[in-house]
Order: sequence, then C-alpha cells, then structure tokens
Amino acid sequence: MRSIREIGLKDQRVLMRVDFNVPMDKEGNITDDARITAAVPTIQYISEQGARLILMSHLGRPDGQRSEKYSLKPVALHLSELLKKEVKMADDCIGPQVTAAIEQLKSGEIMLLENVRFHSAEEENDVEFSKQLAALGDVFVNDAFGTAHRAHSSTAGVAEFLPAYAGFLLENEVKMLRQVLEHPECPRLAVLGGAKIKDKLGLISNLLDKMDILLIGGGMANTFLKAQGICIGKSICEDKLLDEAKKLMLTAESQKKKIILPLDAVLADSLSEDAAAAVCDINAIPEDKMILDIGPQTIAAFSREIDRAHTIIWNGPVGAYEFEQFSVGTDAIARAMASSRAVTVIGGGDSAAAVHKLGLDKEFTHISTGGGATLEFLEGIKLPGVQSCEW
Ligand code: 3PG
Repeated sequence: MRSIREIGLKDQRVLMRVDFNVPMDKEGNITDDARITAAVPTIQYISEQGARLILMSHLGRPDGQRSEKYSLKPVALHLSELLKKEVKMADDCIGPQVTAAIEQLKSGEIMLLENVRFHSAEEENDVEFSKQLAALGDVFVNDAFGTAHRAHSSTAGVAEFLPAYAGFLLENEVKMLRQVLEHPECPRLAVLGGAKIKDKLGLISNLLDKMDILLIGGGMANTFLKAQGICIGKSICEDKLLDEAKKLMLTAESQKKKIILPLDAVLADSLSEDAAAAVCDINAIPEDKMILDIGPQTIAAFSREIDRAHTIIWNGPVGAYEFEQFSVGTDAIARAMASSRAVTVIGGGDSAAAVHKLGLDKEFTHISTGGGATLEFLEGIKLPGVQSCEW
C-alpha cells in the first residue's frame, strides 16, 4: 500500500475518506467516538504537514436523500474539540459553493464535507460523481477502514482520478489483520460468536483454514450443536444450515483442527431482561428453554484454550450480552483474552463494544474499527478501499 509518508503534502489539497459513521442518540449526541479518535493521528499528521485537508464520510443510510438526522455537523463539532482546532463544515460534498469554500482553505486548515450518501450516486460508484469529488483534491487519502468493503465513489471511484494513499488507520488495520491471518504464531485460535452462521460461513471456513482451534459460542453454536444431534430446546437455530454445519465439523476433523462447542449453557424461557436464568449441561436442555449464554464449564474450557494460544482472533459475543444476566460468558472471554500474552485481535463491533464496556481496550493488541469490513477481510475477500491504495 502507498503510504502518506511517501509524499510531500505542503499546500496540497488532500481529499481524505474517513469513516465517521458513528452511533448517535435521538438528540444527535455521539455515543461512541472510537472511529473519530482512530482517525485523529492521520488528520493531525496531514494538517501539520501544511496540507489543506478536506474530509469526507458517510453517516447512516440516508438513501440518497438530504436529511438533518444524518448530517455530519455534530461530528465536525466533536472533531474540533478533539483536535482543539476549528473544523469547517461544508453544506454539501460537491458543487460550486463547496469548491469556493475549499479555495479559501489555508495551509493546515481542515474542512468536513457533508454526508456523501446524500447523493445516491455515491453508493452507485457513479463515474461523474467520483470525478466531481476527485476535482476537490490533488491527492486522495483513504483512512476509512470501516467502509473499505464498499466500492463506492468516495472509497474507490475517486482513486481512478487521483493518486491514492493509505492513511495510518487503514495501514495499521491491514497490517494487524494480515499479521494474524498470514504470519500467526501457533497455537492459533479464533473465538466466534454472534447470532447466526448465515453471514459468517465464509469467515468460519477461512478461519478453519488459517487457525488451529475454533471456539464457537453465541446463537451460531446452536446450529452446530443441533447438527450433532443435541437437543437445543427452543433456542434460535438455522435449520437450513445443519448440513453446512456438519460439513464444517467434518472438514475440521479431516484437517486435524478443533472446533470446540459449549459444554454447558445458561438457559431461560425467553430473551428478556427479567427472565430467570439457570445453568444446564449441554446434553440436558429441556424442550421449553433457550440457550442464551455459555455456562461456567464452557467458560473454564474456553479460557484454558485462550491461555495456551499465541494468536487469538475474536468475532462476535458468545451470549445475548446486551442483557446483564446473559453477558457473563462474553465478559469472561474478554477478560481471559485481556490477560493472555497472545497477539489478540478483536474484529467486529459487538465484541469491541463488550471489551470497551469493561474498560479493557488497552489490553488488546488490536481492536478493529471495522464491522463488515473486518469480517470480509477475515473471510479472505479483497476490499475495494484497500485495493485502491495498492497501485
Ligand atoms: C459500517 O458501519 O459498517 C460502515 O461504516 C459501513 O456502513 P454501511 O454498512 O452502511 O455501508
């Protein structure tokens, strides 16, 4: 990848794609600014080099319509506070007014363009729209790892018309994810969770290939358990994928890899805040109960494997962790990984949120800012936003 360290930026108009798609509450307050803070080192570097910095991002899915709800104005204000420096806000991301405002930008100054998804052409990767965006800069920098799996105008299209470079965040994400996939120290382990296998079949088979042990929890473990003939009561399950789950178990066996499933579980009648929870052996689950977390025996078995591993990737919570009484397993995995000496990488928004909730962020080697992008990277898919900087 081409790095911004390779070029002189003084007085250049640097058009930089960031992923400021951050969660906000109803009042428009940013509830998690991790993606903004993660882009700050690149922003500071470019601004300190004396460039005129033009930032662009999407926020939410406004479907090509202008909408105050999806305006990036609160992000510009928050970024100003973080940088202790003014961040100007443009009314749109293209057009004569934007061009004029950029002409007024002085060396070192920063401007954030309005949500690129207010134009449907953005997601269509429309050539004319890409050209209009590209005309705003002399150089394109992509630091939006979270959106690198999208082939849109602002992530890939502009790179057809401007020399493209990777920012520090993109560079670091790719370096860390490549390190765990391509040069991992053995034993290599992946902890996989989340509700469904459907979206993660590619991930499971790629990690089966690259890792030695897969620990599977969360709703997706139920399909594997049922495929083995275990009664899972009224737990969620993807019946259509039972054969696929069996196939994955057989592949693991033939490759001498281990897939470890829950040995016990926390059960309840329903997924709710006040449902009474009880621990049960995995072979004794009643028909009228559902699995909502891994149990203590599983926590102990998973923790032992985590303790032995030298490389660990974690994607997806191992229980319904948004409810206090079903978050014990996910919290325990986070703590076990935090105290391990392995290279630990968190890929996926929910696992990152679980770690963040416990204040353990600093104990991990790398916490990815991507959700879908990280998943696709770990599946072995080439990301358009990364490829655009590899020329
Ligand atoms: C994300 O949050 O995963 C990225 O910002 C991409 O957003 P999208 O799924 O709306 O394209």
